[in-house]
Amino acid sequence: MKENIIPHTYQISIEDRRKANNHNSFLIWFTGLSGSGKSTIANVVELELYKKGIKTYILDGDNIRKGINKDLSFSPEDRTENIRRIAETANLMIDAGLVVLAAFVSPYKKDRENIKNIVKDVNFVEIYVNTSVEECEKRDVKGLYKKARTGEIKNMTGISAPYEAPEYPDIEIKTENVSIENAVNEIIEYITPKLKLKNE
Ligand code: ADX
Repeated sequence: MKENIIPHTYQISIEDRRKANNHNSFLIWFTGLSGSGKSTIANVVELELYKKGIKTYILDGDNIRKGINKDLSFSPEDRTENIRRIAETANLMIDAGLVVLAAFVSPYKKDRENIKNIVKDVNFVEIYVNTSVEECEKRDVKGLYKKARTGEIKNMTGISAPYEAPEYPDIEIKTENVSIENAVNEIIEYITPKLKLKNE
């Protein structure tokens, strides 16, 4: 099957689209426990980028697990497939010239490594939103930790399923010590040089 798929050569390239947008395109990946603050931080980062005229899009559980990935559970195999599809989606968006922000628990190291293979290392920024499980459980915004404790939810990351923390993330945000504003500033500072087009 694969050998019969021959890509068409299109006139407009990723470089053309990046040039038209006047900025580079890449993926900013937020990993961390449920309730760690990934989406909250991603949301403010996107707002700051939007104010600078950067073309962005956010991928998160709400628009992915309710749509394209609604057939997937939280088993290890399905989480792997969840992350693979998201990485492929992000890859298309990078090709379209966008700065993509993705907020997913993504608990397995090998799955996060695979994202890098799909979008290429240079297009991948990994942000570890490091909030302790104790704090996430205390916040329990969605009431999921309580359900995990009573056994109503199985495979809950941090309680009954593992979270493999990144060893060398590009940025680590310890939300128990740092304000959202400072976290966002650190991220913006880190990605600003990456936004510049080559030859600028
Ligand atoms: S991932 O592990 O496959 O990357 P993903 O980020 O898509 O997970 O979805 C996690 C979100 O789904 C959590 O923020 C939480 O709201 C919800 N959720 C429901 N069940 C679970 C579970 N068993 N483990 C973790 N998150 C869960």
